[in-house]
Amino acid sequence: MDKIVVEGGVPLRGTVQVSGAKNAALPIVAASLLAEGDHVVRNVPDLADVRTMGRLLGHMGCTVERSGDQHAAAIRVPAAVTPEAPYELVKTMRASVVVLGPLVARWGKARVSLPGGCAIGARPIDQHLKGLTALGAKIELEHGYVTATAPRGRLHGAVFTFDGQTVTGTENVMMAAALAEGRSVLRNCAREPEVIDLADALIRMGARIEGAGTDEIRIDGVERLAPLDHDVIADRIEAGTFMVAGALPGCDVVVKGCLADHLEALTEKLRAVGATVTAVEGGVRVVGDGRPRPVDVRTAPHPGFPTDMQAQMMVPLCLADGSSKVTETVFENRFMHVQELLRLGADVAIDGKTAVVRGVPALSGAPVMASDLRASAALVLAGLAAQGTTEVLRVYHLDRGYERIEAKLAPLGARIRREKE
Ligand code: EPU
Repeated sequence: MDKIVVEGGVPLRGTVQVSGAKNAALPIVAASLLAEGDHVVRNVPDLADVRTMGRLLGHMGCTVERSGDQHAAAIRVPAAVTPEAPYELVKTMRASVVVLGPLVARWGKARVSLPGGCAIGARPIDQHLKGLTALGAKIELEHGYVTATAPRGRLHGAVFTFDGQTVTGTENVMMAAALAEGRSVLRNCAREPEVIDLADALIRMGARIEGAGTDEIRIDGVERLAPLDHDVIADRIEAGTFMVAGALPGCDVVVKGCLADHLEALTEKLRAVGATVTAVEGGVRVVGDGRPRPVDVRTAPHPGFPTDMQAQMMVPLCLADGSSKVTETVFENRFMHVQELLRLGADVAIDGKTAVVRGVPALSGAPVMASDLRASAALVLAGLAAQGTTEVLRVYHLDRGYERIEAKLAPLGARIRREKE
């Protein structure tokens, strides 16, 4: 197992390039199951989770080949697949559940392991199942697996309202509706940029979808779709993580390849802590000026402040000149980084859904344990800001969502390296 070792206290300066979005690439690669043939997806990040999705498709009989060029993935979907996602793979990556909609819509049957809970919360999939049921799928839960069948071989269009906004739930039901017979109207949909990117990919396959990015998506099902040919959008959470790095005292970081529109809520908070955020050609520049100011943050579905940035945003607040409140409304247990930040000398108290962060003048390096993907990123940022050496253990969490973070941060002047634990 690897660890990341950071010698902190060196202000970062320079330019960093953002990779393709993990959370867009995963459902888009899964969307290949909607059409037999040869698919190409470009700007696919080289990450553990993406490799897991490749293994999952391989288990079904597809072939997935990566070429370094443009970070492309070539996927061949054969004339018949084994429509099954086994527990061994789903337990390592919850997002595997996005194969459910495409499988039942295209192949009439899916057998997908239930994902179970995870470090950040219970994360049920009831809305995915309700949506697919509305489209006519017959759902059975047995031996830890969901079996979904399309009784007459094809799903039908339906009007369905999600009880709460869910990103992968919206994606699963939208993919299924793309091949259903007739019109579907999905309400209270997630509006995340990744949902829009998936809809764009499906439209390029021949799907008839309107309204992605709003809370109502209308889909006229088609009989068949053509193979994918799509470039994945930039990863706004990776970009946001580097933007927070730029907002640390004395830093000046240009984040290239990201879309400013996807990062408005974060940009507003970084300005509120005192950083200067400006649009530059092909990206944004973030300059951290002096000690951060305290600011309250409340996570919410897009376009609100992303829960996937909550842990990282806490780092400048730990160093702020005053107290901030960070409220997590999306997941019930997403403060696992707090205990580790305390080890670095932060002063944070959790009260239910809110963490009260009292800024301290400096953090001091220590060994810390990563608990989930975004918590790990926060610990790396905290290590960069801390005096002395921080070792972030269990880096496999980080590798699920960041492409060689140490290789991207080192050219900015970070003293960071990967070592064996
Ligand atoms: N929820 C339900 N029922 C459902 C589905 C969701 O109650 O059927 C609840 C969840 O428990 C949670 C809330 O709804 O409280 C929102 O969850 P959502 O379904 O939107 O999350 P997700 O689709 O499982 C995606 C990202 C997460 C990101 C969330 C929220 C992917 C592959 N994952 O998860 O990304 O935090 O949306 O934006 O797109 C990450 O990248 O680190 C990560 C965890």
